[in-house]
Amino acid sequence: YGDHRDLHRLIRRQRQMCIRDRNKRSKEKYVVTCAWPYVNTIPHLGTFLHLLSGDVITRYLKIKGDEAIYVSGSDTHGTPVIVAAEKEGIPPKELAFKYHNIILRLLKEWNIDFTNYTHTHNEVHIDFVQGFYKKVHKNGYFKLKESKQFFCNHCNRFLPDRFVEGTCPHCHHQGARGDQCVNPECGKILKPTELIDPYCATCKNPPILKKTEHWYFDLPKFENQLKDFIISTPHIPANAKPKMLDMIKEGLVARPFTRDLKWGIPAGPIFGDKFKDKVLYVWTEAVLGYLSAVKEWAIKENKPELFEYFWKDKKTKTVFCIGKDNNIFHIILFPALLMAVNDGYPLPYAISTTQFIMFREKAFSKSQGIGLWANEATAILPASYWRYYLIYTRPELKDSNFEWSEFAKIVNSNLNDTIGNFIHRTISFITRSFEGKIPARGKLTHDEKKLLSLSLIHI
Ligand code: MF3
Ligand code: ZN
Repeated sequence: YGDHRDLHRLIRRQRQMCIRDRNKRSKEKYVVTCAWPYVNTIPHLGTFLHLLSGDVITRYLKIKGDEAIYVSGSDTHGTPVIVAAEKEGIPPKELAFKYHNIILRLLKEWNIDFTNYTHTHNEVHIDFVQGFYKKVHKNGYFKLKESKQFFCNHCNRFLPDRFVEGTCPHCHHQGARGDQCVNPECGKILKPTELIDPYCATCKNPPILKKTEHWYFDLPKFENQLKDFIISTPHIPANAKPKMLDMIKEGLVARPFTRDLKWGIPAGPIFGDKFKDKVLYVWTEAVLGYLSAVKEWAIKENKPELFEYFWKDKKTKTVFCIGKDNNIFHIILFPALLMAVNDGYPLPYAISTTQFIMFREKAFSKSQGIGLWANEATAILPASYWRYYLIYTRPELKDSNFEWSEFAKIVNSNLNDTIGNFIHRTISFITRSFEGKIPARGKLTHDEKKLLSLSLIHI
């Protein structure tokens, strides 16, 4: 894979095979999901694009005659939520549920239908995650390591992940976070101690180093399997494949899965009493929500076997609607976890990544007041306008830019003039010629059958 030309040829061939597959039209089983939004603020249009994408894909699959469920939820733990809670002066749990409830309301407003939209602070999820990692531990993929971590004397605490910021050692972007560079072109996963000129994100003071112990997941063990997975999976965006393969080529490193924090899923039940005051790294548990949300739904439906029906079938197709900064977690980390637990879960079938939506050429930023938030959008115009616009302009190849004039143009000409007019004519025609009732279908002519065979929908 040194030369990406071969990779692109392979991608093209895989695409053609998919089209052929599609024409076979057998009923298939899908679990559609989207990235779990952090509940540290009200989601903006970019975040809602993921939630909306999964909704549209699930509706499409169902119309097509496939079996599809759609799950996601609020990502309640981790430093993003703790940092925001401290700013608002309330406990993390209170903040998380405040925004979780706002999202629930917005989903209704936006007509986004989930089979289960839950959150990561629920018992089924916590149990599932702890059971999952006990198994990964038993399978021998965790190592205990002592290391020195950043500690802020002023705030009197360790500074994992977003509690520390500095300059990215790879791209030299300033304001990189302790767990990942915020420059989307770089997006590398970082160790906090790799940051150049680190400072405490809360009080801006430089941190000191202090000894602590953590359990590390042996990611390098999966390099070959991950490489095979990435090369052989057609529905990983062509612009993500080479990047991910390069990261593997540069060598993956073991990642600490525990954190010196209070808010999160307790690590004690997995790693023993010594870890009773530590929690799991937020990403490592949130991604397992894709499984636990199906489990929770199955239990609520009183059909617990539905979990196995969907998630323990290697033929199930799983789809992930995410933003580009989440690629690495879904294309490298999550598949490696499924490999490590070795419980018969299918690897991702499709990663549907979107690039960023910018606002007047700038990234959305609540603190700088740049952008448009999901609640503001629907306060201005009905959700169907936004749904149409966002899916129509969905940025798949490069970042897009939100402009009111373009939004108005697309709504007026496509949605109103073209689609609206088509629907209006159809309804008028049915009213005029068939007394408002769609007549039963007659015998199909040869040409009509041929036309229908080109459509993807079962009729
Ligand atoms: N909360 C993360 C974000 O907003 C996404 C988590 S996706 C999951 O970037 F898979 F971990 F749930
Ligand atoms: Zn500090």
